[in-house]
Amino acid sequence: LVKVRLRLLVGVAWPPLANVYDPEEEKPEFWRQQARAVLRLALDRKLNTNVAKNIVLFVGDGESDGAVSVTQAERSPHPLGAPMLPSVYAVDFQIPDSAATATAYLCGVKANLNTVGLSAAGRNGACRSQKGNEVTSILKWAKDAGKSVGIVTTTRVQHATPAAAYAHSASRKWYCDTDMPAAAKAQGCRDIAAQLLSNTDIDVIIGGGRKYMTPKGTRDPEYPLDPSARGRRSDGRNLISEWQHTKGGKVARYVWNRTDFDAVDPATTDYLLALFEPGDLRYELERDLSMDPPLSDTTEKAIRILQKNPKGFFLLVEGGRIDQGHHASRASMALHETVELDNAVGRALELTGDGDTLTMVTADHSHSFTFNGFPFRGNSILGKSPLFGKDMMPYTTLMYGNGPGHKIVNNKRPDIRESKDYIQQAAVPTESETHGGEDVAVLARGPMAHLFHGVQEQSYIPHALAFADCGPTHCATAPPYLHLHLHLFI
Ligand SMILES: *[C@@H]1O[C@H](CO)[C@@H](O)[C@H](O)[C@H]1NC(C)=O
Ligand SMILES: [Zn+2]
Repeated sequence: LVKVRLRLLVGVAWPPLANVYDPEEEKPEFWRQQARAVLRLALDRKLNTNVAKNIVLFVGDGESDGAVSVTQAERSPHPLGAPMLPSVYAVDFQIPDSAATATAYLCGVKANLNTVGLSAAGRNGACRSQKGNEVTSILKWAKDAGKSVGIVTTTRVQHATPAAAYAHSASRKWYCDTDMPAAAKAQGCRDIAAQLLSNTDIDVIIGGGRKYMTPKGTRDPEYPLDPSARGRRSDGRNLISEWQHTKGGKVARYVWNRTDFDAVDPATTDYLLALFEPGDLRYELERDLSMDPPLSDTTEKAIRILQKNPKGFFLLVEGGRIDQGHHASRASMALHETVELDNAVGRALELTGDGDTLTMVTADHSHSFTFNGFPFRGNSILGKSPLFGKDMMPYTTLMYGNGPGHKIVNNKRPDIRESKDYIQQAAVPTESETHGGEDVAVLARGPMAHLFHGVQEQSYIPHALAFADCGPTHCATAPPYLHLHLHLFI
């Protein structure tokens, strides 16, 4: 929807231009015909009870309107029913972060803020509380069942969302050993980057985060003169070369730029580690086109590599910087990230089929992001409302409950400039805009998509995905994947 809106007109139109909508929309028959067509499809719909050999899980981190990026999914000739609305909260906080939510929708257990891969008995920042409270993810269950597995993100691969798929950490911020308190290291806790190598054997890993993988001071290949891009590890390990050496006998490729990435032949590649930046990737709008591929290309490469496994695959794809755009209240950045996630969904649907692949699109949590006023159809989504506030100042269609965009100059809100770098106004001044607590959306298509309906706990998601994955007739006989879940079915 946003995509469509973004591609319409830029600027405020007053009075509304006649050509911003299809003149057919004035005819009642236009809407009646459309409704009849959808109704016909709904009546003809057969439940898809196939086994989901493959699962592709798309997460828009902080994507307020979870439905936004599923425009592709919804254009299916077999549209799905109402979306499921997962209730999104942490065990200890009403409004969660990406660590607690990823633990819910990947590991199937609600957790505390800031923790990954631990039940709520694991305490934020307390290494001692980790032991015995680890919970495993659907990525591991899939690997244990003989499938290929992958992670694709636009953040560093050690960031909260991907981390919950493979790590157990009392703090999501323990990216590398240097980021950990001495006590946590002494108590035997390990950093997230180290766990990326030692836990589940992951076939495809794509994102950013080179600096957490190399010894302190190691120059970055892309930014050799930038001290902040240098390696950060205190233990002297080079996890990139260790990764390559542990894949003996297999074709394992490490790449850090687009030329090498484009040259990776999925047909002959078993393992791929692609790290395009020292930390998070750049925003899609600011991407270095020659050095870094877009999310749709990384998603495609991952699917083509994983698809070779006759037992199927599990892939997690995160549009991770939607969230960071919102924290900075740069709505334009956040929306363009969302559009690229939508492109990646479209690409994945071209490469897979509903017969054996369950595709899900969801968000982990929301933001204090509002879509308000009475803008005309065709008005730029980043534009102003045609109405003015009581202070006789204009306001934008998009704004935030809190954030860095709160400003009062001479007792007045400042006037609005429209540009891609514009920081939307906020009611309350904060350095970084916060998350929001409303339910997000889950949309699913393919085998067993009908399991996702109503308002449920977010932790329901991987249990139902795992069920779809082994199929109702096979589940009872599919160890070791299923013994974790058998209690659900008996
Ligand atoms: C990409 O990486 C390879 C391997 O390090 C390097 O040889 C090549 O010069 C890099 N390409 C660019 C454009 O930097
Ligand atoms: Zn966030």
